[in-house]
Amino acid sequence: MNENAIAILGGTGDQGLGLAYRFTQAGRPVVIGSRKLDRAVEAAEKVREVVPAADVEGLANEDACTKSPIVILSVPFEHFASTVKGIKDKLSPGQIVVSMGVPLATAVGDGAMRTVGLWQGSCAELVAGLVPQGVEVVSAFQNVSAHRLQHVEDEVQCDVVVSGAKAPRERIMELCALVPGLRAVNGGPLANARIVEEITALLIGLNIRYKTPEGLGIRFTGLPEA
Ligand SMILES: NC(=O)c1ccc[n+]([C@@H]2O[C@H](COP(=O)([O-])OP(=O)(O)OC[C@H]3O[C@@H](n4cnc5c(N)ncnc54)[C@H](OP(=O)(O)O)[C@@H]3O)[C@@H](O)[C@H]2O)c1
Repeated sequence: MNENAIAILGGTGDQGLGLAYRFTQAGRPVVIGSRKLDRAVEAAEKVREVVPAADVEGLANEDACTKSPIVILSVPFEHFASTVKGIKDKLSPGQIVVSMGVPLATAVGDGAMRTVGLWQGSCAELVAGLVPQGVEVVSAFQNVSAHRLQHVEDEVQCDVVVSGAKAPRERIMELCALVPGLRAVNGGPLANARIVEEITALLIGLNIRYKTPEGLGIRFTGLPEA
């Protein structure tokens, strides 16, 4: 396992690719995971086209998650549980799983401007109930637009509320600092993920009403300088 590497499962999609561009641009090794090895390899090639010096490889999800202390889940909400169940035997204590999922009502055939209520409280807490003991879950990056992540020539301009236990939360807050324009905000315990996930549905509605397909972000005012 490479201590600096970041694995992104479902990194073949828009959000995962955007993060892969940004993290490799910052010099961090990235492992892209997919259900299909050839899609992962293809996505790694895409990252190299955008970031020629990228240290990136593509692997099947179950192999990708063993290569990095940080594993970002970048699949649609409705596939979180099956994805976590598919890799959980490969996870080891001390690894951090990052939940970026939002329980959009599209999961039940409704619109993306609303969410569905979850017994667990949030997608992140759903994940926390599925990972093996000793694996930490942190919630982050739900309010960041894929479009803005992918436009690597521009700053992203968004606050990222990071929630979870203190030590893993601080490690994920450090990741935000790798991306120009992202600012990590200490979001406290994982249960606060339920508030952060809801904001994404609001942002999707705002993007539609204000015709901003590039995606709005959020900023908190009055925070002391870190
Ligand atoms: N897009 C955004 O602007 C945005 C913003 C904030 C947060 N997010 C969150 O980030 C996550 C990824 O978003 P996205 O837009 O990148 O999603 P996406 O493109 O729709 O899907 C991402 C990847 O999920 C995998 N996937 C699809 N169906 C699956 C299934 N049945 N089981 C397991 N994996 C499956 C696919 O990878 P393979 O086929 O290669 O396995 C796909 O490339 C979501 O949870 C979303 O809520 C997205």
